Amino acid sequence: MSFESSFFAKRRSVVAKKMLPKKIEENHIKEILEAGIRVPDHGALNPWKIKVIIGDKLKFLDEKIILPEFKKLNPNASANSLELESKRLQRASVVFAVISTPVDHPKIPKWEMRLSSGAVCMNLLSCAQSLGYAAQWLTEWYAYNDRMLTYLGGRKDLDKISGFIYVGHKIEEPKERRRPNSSEVISYI
Ligand SMILES: Cc1cc2nc3c(=O)[nH]c(=O)nc-3n(C[C@H](O)[C@H](O)[C@H](O)COP(=O)(O)O)c2cc1C
Repeated sequence: MSFESSFFAKRRSVVAKKMLPKKIEENHIKEILEAGIRVPDHGALNPWKIKVIIGDKLKFLDEKIILPEFKKLNPNASANSLELESKRLQRASVVFAVISTPVDHPKIPKWEMRLSSGAVCMNLLSCAQSLGYAAQWLTEWYAYNDRMLTYLGGRKDLDKISGFIYVGHKIEEPKERRRPNSSEVISYI
């Protein structure tokens, strides 16, 4: 049995600016979501939520949340950066916003609930990529914006946006990026 040519040995993200945001089959979106939430989750607490941003809602959030919040934070922004901010989410066909929503539990630490939310992000990313889509896990500045968090249904000061999983179509195969030297990060006890 060899891992060499399998999906996980070669998995690679495609940056959002290189995606083609044309339509993705509805059943593929459902498959990615259904498989994506099959993650380890101590106590089966489901301490995360996914908000699917698709169709008109990509433009809506770009124009009603991201751009006005950016302008508020950067009153002297250049025309170029305003143009970029006005189309952030529209780089993708669909964006899955993953919100970490920890709960009080007598035994399970919140840290583990946060980790499970990260696992949802990674799983959605891998599921989309395994179907041949371009996908990238992004936070950028607006994952840390309270107006974005609350618009997505998150509770201020409790919930956090773990990531936006951008999914679109590939224009070309991505080049390999620098990977860690395994001997520097892995050792045997
Ligand atoms: C939590 C998290 C947040 C990230 N946010 C950004 C970001 O805001 N901007 C960016 O360029 N890359 C960001 N990245 C990295 C991208 O996902 C990058 O494409 C990725 O490291 C490529 O790795 P891969 O080919 O192994 O999937 C983030 C990664 C993680 C895990």
